[in-house]
Amino acid sequence: MDKRTLTFRIFRHNPFDPVSVPRLQEFRVEETPRMTLYTALTRIREEMDPSLQFDFVCRSAVCGSCAMLVNGRPRLACRTRTEPLPDKVTLLPLPFFRLVGDLSVDTGTWFRDMGRRVESWVHQHRAFEPGAEEERMSNEQAQAIYELDRCIECGCCVAACGMAQMSPDFLGSAGMLRIARFLVDPRDHRPEEAVFEVIGTEEGVFGCIGLLACDDFCPKDLPLASRLAYLRRRLALAAMRPSPSTTTGPVPVR
Ligand code: SF4
Ligand code: FES
Repeated sequence: MDKRTLTFRIFRHNPFDPVSVPRLQEFRVEETPRMTLYTALTRIREEMDPSLQFDFVCRSAVCGSCAMLVNGRPRLACRTRTEPLPDKVTLLPLPFFRLVGDLSVDTGTWFRDMGRRVESWVHQHRAFEPGAEEERMSNEQAQAIYELDRCIECGCCVAACGMAQMSPDFLGSAGMLRIARFLVDPRDHRPEEAVFEVIGTEEGVFGCIGLLACDDFCPKDLPLASRLAYLRRRLALAAMRPSPSTTTGPVPVR
């Protein structure tokens, strides 16, 4: 098969340079077997324009830093092969996040703030005892936590979410997932009401209008739609109870 020459139209802008103007710049790259967008971008940076900004660390869908819009869809550059893509590929930075330059955005500030808002740590009533024996949990419990703890904070779900674009305070499906992760953790003793105060709002589950693009574009295939539905059901059940729950123990996995 003939080798293809791919044309990349790449967003260029340095927001810290007062004379920089946002624009698309074209680069042509000969496709190689099993080429990824990361490989193509690296070749552009090494052979054509060393000033091109994009982020990567792991090159294996673990660090979450290489997410960008590929022909309008949020994807990880290191995990996206060029073969299925058309000859012309437009690369833009993820929307919503602060632009650092070209394809590089600051997702860290948003994720740090989200983690603070959902209190993304294990809440215990007991004081820490350094000499205490480790607490055991079943394999099923550990697996349930692990399944919800695989988020790499790439920002694809936030970039794909229409609601997040309109409402910057929306916690997004990544925030809901984080809450769901602590609800299945038997070590977390926070009362159910404290969780519902965070997510039972327009910035939480009621802010979602159900387009579920987050679920379509999560590169780790996390169960974003089902956890959102689960949290909604939990909220609805709690609202139907005759008096507020005072549950403080572990919440069963459903
Ligand atoms: Fe990325 Fe998925 Fe985590 Fe969203 S939930 S930040 S898409 S890994
Ligand atoms: Fe780490 Fe792509 S470079 S996820």
